[in-house]
Amino acid sequence: MQQPIIEIKGANIYQGENLVLKEVDLTIKEGEFVYLVGRTGTGKSSLLKTLYGDLLLTEGDAVVVDYQLKNLHWKQVPYLRRKLGVVFQDFRLLTDRNVANNLRFVLKATGWTDKKEIDEKVEMVLEQVGLKDKAKKCLMK
Ligand SMILES: Nc1ncnc2c1ncn2[C@@H]1O[C@H](COP(=O)(O)OP(=O)(O)OP(=O)(O)O)[C@@H](O)[C@H]1O
Ligand SMILES: [Mg+2]
Repeated sequence: MQQPIIEIKGANIYQGENLVLKEVDLTIKEGEFVYLVGRTGTGKSSLLKTLYGDLLLTEGDAVVVDYQLKNLHWKQVPYLRRKLGVVFQDFRLLTDRNVANNLRFVLKATGWTDKKEIDEKVEMVLEQVGLKDKAKKCLMK
């Protein structure tokens, strides 16, 4: 049986001193496609922030890929994030470079070194999402 990619057990998630989500249990396995829905302010972003190490988990247990989130040391956070892909509502792209170079930056940061392979990957993913003609678009303009 497939191992879970994300496994949360009995997690209490806080924003400051406020308990936002209580006793969260969640298991997601490789290949699963999961939606998280809920009214505004119910804690969707807080849950995601916990998964990418923006909110520290202090109560309960959670494993994301190979990382135990409980009391995760801040030095581990960049390594956890290299295992995740997050698409933010407000983009969070680097504004000093074009779309293709944003993607190249991420690939290099996650260990890709072969320039040809990087260029092929960038071209392929932009093609897949119908954005190939935007590759050279600079975000500042
Ligand atoms: N940085 C913060 N500091 C303090 N409280 C916060 C902070 N961010 C969110 N909260 C509070 O935590 C609760 C959950 O917020 P959260 O942003 O996780 O909800 P959400 O489900 O993502 O909402 P939305 O659908 O509007 O994005 C809300 O009561 C919110 O006011
Ligand atoms: Mg939100």
